[in-house]
Amino acid sequence: MLKVINVVGARPNFMKVAPIVEAMKRRKREFAPFVVHTGQHYDSMMSDAFFHDLDMPEPDLHLKVGSASHAAQTAAVMERFEPVLLAQRPDWVLVVGDVNSTLACALVSSKLGVRVGHVEAGLRSRDRTMPEEINRLLTDQISDLLFTPSEDAGENLRAEGVSEERIRFVGNVMIDSLFKQLTRAKESAIRQDLAVLDQDYAVLTLHRPSNVDNLDTLGRIIGALEEISERLPIVFPVHPRTRKTITEFGFGERIEKAKGLRLIEPLGYLDFLGLYSHARLVLTDSGGLQEETTVLGIPCLTLRENTERPITVELGTNTIVGTDRERITTAAFAALNGSLTTNRHVPPLWDGNTADRILDALQEK
Ligand code: UD1
Repeated sequence: MLKVINVVGARPNFMKVAPIVEAMKRRKREFAPFVVHTGQHYDSMMSDAFFHDLDMPEPDLHLKVGSASHAAQTAAVMERFEPVLLAQRPDWVLVVGDVNSTLACALVSSKLGVRVGHVEAGLRSRDRTMPEEINRLLTDQISDLLFTPSEDAGENLRAEGVSEERIRFVGNVMIDSLFKQLTRAKESAIRQDLAVLDQDYAVLTLHRPSNVDNLDTLGRIIGALEEISERLPIVFPVHPRTRKTITEFGFGERIEKAKGLRLIEPLGYLDFLGLYSHARLVLTDSGGLQEETTVLGIPCLTLRENTERPITVELGTNTIVGTDRERITTAAFAALNGSLTTNRHVPPLWDGNTADRILDALQEK
């Protein structure tokens, strides 16, 4: 019986951990899961709603760290996670993704000699100004098992000198959640509530500091959105970070005037899936949404200069458009005219069975 601490901290972690914990509960003779929520995200729509939507049991322990600077937040997670690890003495700690909680818990575990597994290992944007890139690089360095979502991720690790025996190509665990919840999400009333028609709206998400904490960049993106929303309504569930800077930079009035651009509160997992799965087009700077749209065959414009998920461009529906106003509008109009060409393949092992492959690998090690 392996005792495994599963760490969650921020919104993009929940849909990755839910299928793993579920598989551990199903394989209860082999695994004893324990869930620690660091509290990096704490608003109910950034956290609690996901537990409910993903059928996740309440965390066994909540560290309640909350928001702070990178250093203060990472340090708070470390300080509060160390005694938990000493008390629980698990066989493994599993961390997912690339948020501050991921690195903080991996670091504490490796220093206490507890084995760490990193789910979604090996992704690289090669942009070290992204806080997530630093979290990825360091977490991969100190983890014992590296669970990669795609072959390119394994190649990145090999190029960094990681030995083959630490790498396991298991596929994309977030897609386990997507497949599991798709039917329930189709029943969401969100499209009726917003009075939008299937295939007749776009969905936008925006929260990267490089986009939303910079006046010029955010201004350029809003300029593009004003133009696009004259042809196609855009629904924009707004992340708290973005809400703050829109107000600080004084963009509220411009957004108000753009009638086709609708700002709404962040949505839970099922409502959001119910919304974007029927969209004509998705515009985003999120990592996960590039993957989810690829699986569902929805055109996705990524408002960044790079991606750590190149397979979504090579095989899927993703196009990297950066933050230049004209580049964004040209690509959006091409998508609407049907002249934006992308592939439509689902990457290998994005099949809904990744959690069990992770558990098998833990058993074998
Ligand atoms: C974090 C992750 C990012 C991920 C994103 C998803 C890091 C470095 N970044 O970024 O990779 O894509 O989560 O959402 O870990 N806030 C609230 N309520 C909350 C949480 C945050 O109001 O529940 C506000 C706070 O003002 C906070 C700000 O949002 O200062 C940013 O939160 P933080 O967790 O620091 O980073 P995110 O931008 O959410």
